[in-house]
Amino acid sequence: MKLAAAFTLASSVFAANHLQAVPFLGAADSLFGAGIEGAGIDKLGNVYAVDFNDNASSAGQIAPKQSLLFQSSDNESLVNGIRFNIDSTGAEEAYIADATTHQVYKLTSRDKATGAFAKTSVFCHDENMLQPNDIAIASSSGRIFLSGMNWTSDSVVGNGDLWTCDSSGLAKRLGTFMRTNGIEVSPDEKTLYLSEAANAAGSVVSNVVLAFDLDSASGEITNKRTFVDFAKLDNTASTDIDGMRTDINGNLYVTRNGLGQVAVFTPSGELSAYINAISIDYVSNLEFGGSSGTDLYLIGRCKEDETKGCADMYTGSTVGRAFSNLQKKQPEVTAKPHSRCPA
Ligand SMILES: *[C@@H]1O[C@H](CO)[C@@H](O)[C@H](O)[C@H]1NC(C)=O
Ligand SMILES: *[C@@H]1O[C@H](CO)[C@@H](O)[C@H](O)[C@H]1NC(C)=O
Ligand SMILES: *[C@@H]1O[C@H](CO)[C@@H](O)[C@H](O)[C@H]1NC(C)=O
Repeated sequence: MKLAAAFTLASSVFAANHLQAVPFLGAADSLFGAGIEGAGIDKLGNVYAVDFNDNASSAGQIAPKQSLLFQSSDNESLVNGIRFNIDSTGAEEAYIADATTHQVYKLTSRDKATGAFAKTSVFCHDENMLQPNDIAIASSSGRIFLSGMNWTSDSVVGNGDLWTCDSSGLAKRLGTFMRTNGIEVSPDEKTLYLSEAANAAGSVVSNVVLAFDLDSASGEITNKRTFVDFAKLDNTASTDIDGMRTDINGNLYVTRNGLGQVAVFTPSGELSAYINAISIDYVSNLEFGGSSGTDLYLIGRCKEDETKGCADMYTGSTVGRAFSNLQKKQPEVTAKPHSRCPA
């Protein structure tokens, strides 16, 4: 029966490269908890995630050394997606999604020496947002896109949503879906990617990546289509998609939370590679960082100690979209090289 199953795999699965990440932050050294998520990078290529100090209302830096980035003043906060941007004056700012308070914080007034942000404000908020979970930013307009889900045993449209907030923080719902999670913009900002999953009788039965034509200035999305269907691709419809990121060539990196894997797709939707994590089975998110923006960090709870958050790293040759966009804006500080060893 195994052979019969194998023949249902798309031919591209056999042609795909199988790449291997290496450990970066292990359970013994990690200050992050099992809820590690929402990977983001700043202009220097430093990598951040949530569940710092095993605290769902905290975000911290993972690489090159571990330190606190943000602590919500609301201890019921469940922070998730993190994205950095450079504002029109050249100053670096950070956006952090909070699922329980249905808002996105904006961190400003960054101290150049310590990297600490002095000010936190609520950038956008709407009680009707399901969460938000992960966020993506169109850096040309400063517009952000937010996904959120309501986990029910039988998914219906409305258990997932997609919102956008313009650069002034005005929130607008763009659509409702089954469970939505991973969200990303293409480097030309003409395509928005959104993951959608469905449950039936308590089991996960579908996982697809949707693509839309995007007008990043107005936030309008049109021409909804299925970009990848994991049922047809490799028989993994029951494994949830989590964080997604693009590189500067428009390749889409999709975490498979439960398979310890990232699937990589060309801009036309062809599978090109699988990147396998080593210390993580439940890869929750990913981001390109490091001083050249080519180190792909995979994060998730540690295989060897499921109470801790781990990070693996795959060093490729392609630069991440987020890193590249942060370099394009007016330089604020001189990039310092940093070591790859966690503290
Ligand atoms: C998280 O940290 C904040 C600030 O130190 C604290 O008030 C809160 O109780 C912590 N939450 C947990 C779950 O430890
Ligand atoms: C949050 O803070 C309140 C008031 O200080 C406290 O009673 C509650 O236990 C805290 N909750 C968590 C999850 O730390
Ligand atoms: C989540 O789904 C449950 C079950 O369908 C429903 O009762 C609840 O109202 C939903 N919550 C939201 C915020 O939509």
